[in-house]
Amino acid sequence: VKTQLIMPAAGMGLRLGSSRPKALAELCGLPLIVRTLTRFREAGQLEDAIVPAPASQLPQFEKLLAKHFPGVSIQVLAGGSSRQESVRIGLEALGAQTEIVLIHDAARPFVPVDAIHASIQAAADHGAATVAVPAIDTILLGDTNAFLESTPDRARTWACQTPQTFQAAVIREAHTRARADGFKGTDDASLVRRLGKPVKLVMGVRLNFKLTTPEDLAYARMLIQEGLA
Ligand code: CTP
Ligand code: MG
Repeated sequence: VKTQLIMPAAGMGLRLGSSRPKALAELCGLPLIVRTLTRFREAGQLEDAIVPAPASQLPQFEKLLAKHFPGVSIQVLAGGSSRQESVRIGLEALGAQTEIVLIHDAARPFVPVDAIHASIQAAADHGAATVAVPAIDTILLGDTNAFLESTPDRARTWACQTPQTFQAAVIREAHTRARADGFKGTDDASLVRRLGKPVKLVMGVRLNFKLTTPEDLAYARMLIQEGLA
């Protein structure tokens, strides 16, 4: 089965407070996106990857990926103004033979190779899957005035991660419909779920967190230095 990776990397990392795109942030001697893509190389899923990147930085990304992954075909293209837009643009570049689409944030460098394989298997079995971890905190659903509306049963709450993995026809339809309806989600599995289709939750690990804030960057460096990631 032909599987293809889309790695959205077009964000500017505003919450990280850095002057360059987050995907290029240096993490113990390697750019963030190089660390993340290396996990997919280890999983045998790097060939023909699609990387939506900031439109102003395409040559920088191309040079970097050619240097670190020589001989591997990776397509860098201009992403959009939101993550959803960047993924949608990436979907348009998929090969006609691709049956399974893996979507993984450049900002999650510690994804276990096992989780990549498990999400591919779950998408093959169920049509759509997302890696997620059982919530540790009790999650509160608030109203627009910051009053507690309800407290979902913690035993059923999960924190969303990536990869999110889909049969190609399923994720194409989900993005087409979201766009037609003007629906904006923060992930891709929610776009599939709103079509009424099943999305399998695949057990992840906390280490697969999304590097978002300066503290996350410090924590990530510590994990690498201590040999924990
Ligand atoms: N992303 C993207 N295109 C966008 C926005 C985000 O491809 N227009 C990507 C980011 O590069 C990242 C992933 O989506 O790999 C998750 O987004 P996030 O962690 O929010 O990254 P940024 O948008 O860069 O960060 P911030 O929201 O703090 O600016
Ligand atoms: Mg963002």
